[in-house]
Amino acid sequence: MTTASAPGKVILFGEHAVVYGQPALAAPVTQVQATATLTPLPPSPTGRGGRSEGIWIDARDVGRHYRLEDASSDDPLAAAIRLTFAHFNLPITDDSLRMTLESTIPIASGLGSGAAVCTALVRALANYLNHPMTNAEVSSIVFETEKLLHGTPSGIDNTVIAYGQPVYFVKGQSPIPFNVAHPFQLLIADTGLPSPTKITVGDVRAAREKEPERYEQMFRAIGDIAREARTLIEIGQTPGARFAETLGALMSCNHALLQQLGVSCPELDILAECARAAGAAGAKLSGGGRGGNMLALVTPETESAVRAALEMAGAKRVIGTVVSE
Ligand code: MEV
Repeated sequence: MTTASAPGKVILFGEHAVVYGQPALAAPVTQVQATATLTPLPPSPTGRGGRSEGIWIDARDVGRHYRLEDASSDDPLAAAIRLTFAHFNLPITDDSLRMTLESTIPIASGLGSGAAVCTALVRALANYLNHPMTNAEVSSIVFETEKLLHGTPSGIDNTVIAYGQPVYFVKGQSPIPFNVAHPFQLLIADTGLPSPTKITVGDVRAAREKEPERYEQMFRAIGDIAREARTLIEIGQTPGARFAETLGALMSCNHALLQQLGVSCPELDILAECARAAGAAGAKLSGGGRGGNMLALVTPETESAVRAALEMAGAKRVIGTVVSE
């Protein structure tokens, strides 16, 4: 049996604008995980070609169990398997294998569930084949599967999940892991509304085609916030202002710009407002938006009041995480 896991992720700053070349910051969330387990199956008593032979994909969270050879060409899990064999110039194995995927990352919630499941699968298969892969190799294969899921992904989800560390990311460039001078604490609150990234990314694209200047201006403003946030997180202090206040203000500004892009929704706005009212230094949606998750920046002093406020405001789940190197 061979097993590999991958974390979820949050976009700290810069979602959507990153699709258009602006920088973004993302961090892994190890409190939620996807796991792939490869189990060799005994040969079929009926001999080669029996229905139980071949590679079986057992995607438990979506209730799907199917053979690789029956998967459609746009199936991301099947693509992850085929691309991994192709990466090593190997034919697809004749071994009979069950590839079981399990995940605690909510689907279509902005936490990178699709990229995490594919990352775990690619890593487990590479290990099974005795060819462990670098983070960059895993990331580039998962990027191909992300295209099947999301259409025009920037590549940030596969990157932060495959590298498993906070990254400063610009589309098409190697990711830059960033230093975190002082670890900071986030609460990740789930609206419970599933929202596929493909739809919000497609809607932003359509809106930008109608008003290119206005959208480019908003993307640039988001990019400036991401750059400023990176400096702040790396240095850890700002003259005359407390770190959390400044970082929180940047998060709230980023949220306002995401509202203007049209990717927030009343549920996300309510969670962000309640978090701030309960003492969070800042709050923003994270990921594709129109559902999924919201981030609130908290301190040990404010965490429990903000968590309680988020639960009262209808959050379906609240996860605490710390961003550190
Ligand atoms: C999704 O986690 C982040 C988006 O910017 C899409 C992408 O970068 O591919 C919304």
